[in-house]
Amino acid sequence: MNKNLRKAVIAGNWKMNKTPAEAKALIEEMKPLVADAGCEVVLCVPFVDLSAALAAAEGSNIKIGAENCHWAESGAYTGEVSTGMLKEMGVEYVVIGHSERRTYFGETDQTVNLRTLAALKAGLKPIVCVGETLEQRNLGYTETLLKYQTKMALTNVSAEDLKNVIIAYEPVWAIGTGVTATDDQADEGNGFVRAAIAEAYGEEVAESVTIQYGGSMNAGNADALVAKYHVDGGLIGGASLKAADFATIVKAASK
Ligand code: 13P
Repeated sequence: MNKNLRKAVIAGNWKMNKTPAEAKALIEEMKPLVADAGCEVVLCVPFVDLSAALAAAEGSNIKIGAENCHWAESGAYTGEVSTGMLKEMGVEYVVIGHSERRTYFGETDQTVNLRTLAALKAGLKPIVCVGETLEQRNLGYTETLLKYQTKMALTNVSAEDLKNVIIAYEPVWAIGTGVTATDDQADEGNGFVRAAIAEAYGEEVAESVTIQYGGSMNAGNADALVAKYHVDGGLIGGASLKAADFATIVKAASK
């Protein structure tokens, strides 16, 4: 299959950065810079910034996402946010299972699956994160781990619903460290994810799924990363907090 038939998506993950006023200012700065993008442009922002971000992005080609969602429709889950709440606001995407949530907040493959199913049921598009630690890589478990995490996250997701799922391969050792995976490592990791999807859904379905790379992607290395066959865009942390850098990455994915 031609890689160009897949939808390239560049998504910023702001993590715990920017107040609502700062979010508005950054999106206003980004809007003209990404207006002619040839790929999907998404900004995933803290819950409290969603309202300001949605208002600032209105009428532009920037889509807004959240950074997490709960699996229950409502209930006694202090501090959590439901998919229905996000949907009603106009949110389109949601990051699920980021390694920071797996490491610091007890996220497991099971809860990643539950959140993914809930997001899909509500009509949100999940950006599901998978990735190995340096220790797992050094032990030779990268392929096994990526396939396991991918299949666990997608348990009970139908082939029809899979059309709305993005997977982000984010090697934990490359996140926020300045150490980017080489182009070939990124392509290989994304390829393992695609192979897992092929095992579960068949080759044709797997070829159509958008698989991003994430981990120290920046204005300088984006071109080479997104040129790789299995890399369909990126999930960008630090560089998504700078309008010019983010716009350069969007341009790289627009070719
Ligand atoms: P950095 O781009 O800051 O390494 O973060 C990547 C990431 O975790 C995106 O979700």
